[in-house]
Amino acid sequence: MARPRRSTEPRRRTVVGTRRGPELPGAPPPPLGRDEYARRRRALMREMGRDAIAVIAAAPVHLRNNDVEYAYRQDSDFHHLTGFGEPESVAVLVPGRPQGEYLLFVRDRDPTRETWDGRRAGPAGACRDFGADDAFPIADIDEILPGLMESRARVFYTVGVNRDFDQRLVGWVNGLRAQAKHGRHAPHEIVALEHALHEMRLFKSRGEVEQMRHAARIAAAAHLRAMRHCRPGVFEYEIAAEIRHEFHRADADISYLPIVGGGANGCILHYRENASVLRDGELLLIDAGCEFRHYASDITRTFPVNGRFSAAQRAAYDLVLEANRAAIEAVRPGEHWNRPHEVAVQVLTAGMVRLGLLKGRVPTLIKEETYRRFYMHKTGHWLGMDVHDVGEYKIGDAWRALEPGMVLTIEPGLYIPPGTRGVPPESRNIGIRIEDDVPVTREGHEVLTDGVPKAADAIEAVMAAARAARSTAS
Ligand code: GLY
Ligand code: MN
Ligand code: MN
Repeated sequence: MARPRRSTEPRRRTVVGTRRGPELPGAPPPPLGRDEYARRRRALMREMGRDAIAVIAAAPVHLRNNDVEYAYRQDSDFHHLTGFGEPESVAVLVPGRPQGEYLLFVRDRDPTRETWDGRRAGPAGACRDFGADDAFPIADIDEILPGLMESRARVFYTVGVNRDFDQRLVGWVNGLRAQAKHGRHAPHEIVALEHALHEMRLFKSRGEVEQMRHAARIAAAAHLRAMRHCRPGVFEYEIAAEIRHEFHRADADISYLPIVGGGANGCILHYRENASVLRDGELLLIDAGCEFRHYASDITRTFPVNGRFSAAQRAAYDLVLEANRAAIEAVRPGEHWNRPHEVAVQVLTAGMVRLGLLKGRVPTLIKEETYRRFYMHKTGHWLGMDVHDVGEYKIGDAWRALEPGMVLTIEPGLYIPPGTRGVPPESRNIGIRIEDDVPVTREGHEVLTDGVPKAADAIEAVMAAARAARSTAS
């Protein structure tokens, strides 16, 4: 088995500059081309076979209140197959259909609506710009889609994501059944589309990894900005604002709600209030990633609010960093999915004993899962268009083998809230997680997120330089 390499990226210099704004994350890669979307559709149609049809609906618009909408985010499966960003759209794949295999139903052009709500591609644009063989106004779908279904035995469709659309699909199938005596045929099977599609999405192309690398660069710049901005007295939401600033200036958005937790808040795994003041002597845990062209990054860094780790914080931090590095080293083709977690648990449990958090034999503490008192989550998840991306973790009963093209996070942590009994007092009020984004490569792995430091000394250096710059400026 090939030895893993820490990173196939050129090592980036840890930037200890004095400018307040962090560096721009560099030029974005070229967007995915139409040919990549076409390849995906062809691959899916090969899996489906000739006797099938696939129906994929765009994400619905969600109302926030009255006529105000939540920000629209296209459904990842729909986007993966079409690259088409508009709501009220339906993609249909009809393998082997002589007049064209790829159909889009889209909103018709409408000068008035476009004046209010923005531009629409319309059916002509769906063909011209998005490669549809044929496109129709969405208002005509009831007329057209049953006719396309009736010659097919199986409908590939994801049930349970969009309840309203589920009803419509069942309505079309039932409508055909009801007309059996008039000689119409209804498909006799609805097949889980996501089964085939999510397995495809698990393996990222070179172009997809380029988008993810850029998403990781943007998020790394945001974490650097946060480190430079952090000092006692600043509020968590101010740091969250700095992070969002860095995302938006790079044409990205959040890939999940940022977690900005000082002190005890860093021990709340999905802390979202981001409302407290940051206090001298405490740690700040930031878990924040962005989405760039529908591809996510997911980074966690933990650092001292005042820029200097205490001895106890440093000991706990170095332990989590050791687990992070050891787990990353375990990412390589042929290793099973859970191996990095097992490695992280081994390192962390041994360290918990060393730090006086647990007593006993390490194998027993692992077997009985005693370590879960301080490390209660898994060490990562698939990463892609969704932050917790699609794809099976097991094949049958066994953890699946890692393969080139898969991308996962490595995110060990250690959480010791204030008031924890039976631990040295100086170890309390410590919440630490260190998270990186790691594609599996043929040689081993790459780390997309090394643009933001994680060694304690490097973090302290960044924060000291920012402190010095502030005192010069004032
Ligand atoms: N930010 C979510 C996670 O790390 O899984
Ligand atoms: Mn994560
Ligand atoms: Mn995260």
